[in-house]
Amino acid sequence: MLVKPRVYLTRRLPAAVMDRLTEETDLAFNPEDRSATKCEIIAGLHGRDALLCNIADQIDAAILEACPGLKVVANFGVGFNNIDVAAATRGGIPVTNTPGVLTEATADLAFLLLLAVARRLSEGERLVRARQWTGWAPLQLLGADVAGATLGIVGCGRIGRAVARRARAFDMRIVYWNRTRLPADVEAGEGIEYASLEGLLQRADFVSLHVAYGPATHHLLGAPQLALMKSSAFLINTARGAVVDERALVQALHNKRLAGAGLDVFENEPAVSPGLLQRENVILSPHLGSATIGTRTRMGMMAVDNLLAACAGRRPPHCVNPEVLG
Ligand code: DGY
Repeated sequence: MLVKPRVYLTRRLPAAVMDRLTEETDLAFNPEDRSATKCEIIAGLHGRDALLCNIADQIDAAILEACPGLKVVANFGVGFNNIDVAAATRGGIPVTNTPGVLTEATADLAFLLLLAVARRLSEGERLVRARQWTGWAPLQLLGADVAGATLGIVGCGRIGRAVARRARAFDMRIVYWNRTRLPADVEAGEGIEYASLEGLLQRADFVSLHVAYGPATHHLLGAPQLALMKSSAFLINTARGAVVDERALVQALHNKRLAGAGLDVFENEPAVSPGLLQRENVILSPHLGSATIGTRTRMGMMAVDNLLAACAGRRPPHCVNPEVLG
């Protein structure tokens, strides 16, 4: 009989993924609908082959060193800044992620925030719910035009390009900045123009962030970069909170250096700076980029594919530290 890999899952995943894990693995999981604590993860991993964790779990060197038999850390998420990959690599443990399957859902959310903040949707909704709306008025809640405006995409990988596709349908001009410039035929085909980060920030009416988070992108947008943006411009962040210096953002909004922001991610999640909570011209969502049933199910299936491959001694399809695979 085939020996099933022994898996510890830090938090329940969509039903179809749980069914597959139950079928194909020897599964132990945190039964509570909350993040597992560090102690619970270490205890749960005792004698296990695989860790299936998510982006809210901090998987540090102490956890990895406490579990010497671990064959894989499979992250439920494309971002993997929650995992000490260097420590995993030192221990010869493959770390995997779930790229591609959440591209469209995340791009939808970025565009949703862009439209909502431009058209002051939250303010309007609050007004209606508070029963303070007294009727149509010519000067009420006037927002910013989207058609004809310039969108600056910071980080033009899968998600950035999916946002660009949406922006084209809304007749926006699109400039992008990426660590590596895209080939000329891609730029021409997708109707996107390369700019330096500084140039993009100066030109864009909307700036949408799509870079992976790491030391190179920590506070990529700090006070000096925010100061380059037009005072009529909006910032959209569906990437990672710490790509932006949240304190500097609060200051820029307070000083009317920016027109508003649409934020799905925060520097110290789940904490949100009080200065953001207080602002009318900021729309806030609780890290919902990939939150559709279909997307979360595909992410889970991909994470399971990764862990089953690693446990069977095969190459996991999406390994972020392939050097450990030899
Ligand atoms: C990811 O996968 O990194 C996303 O942030 C989850 O929504």
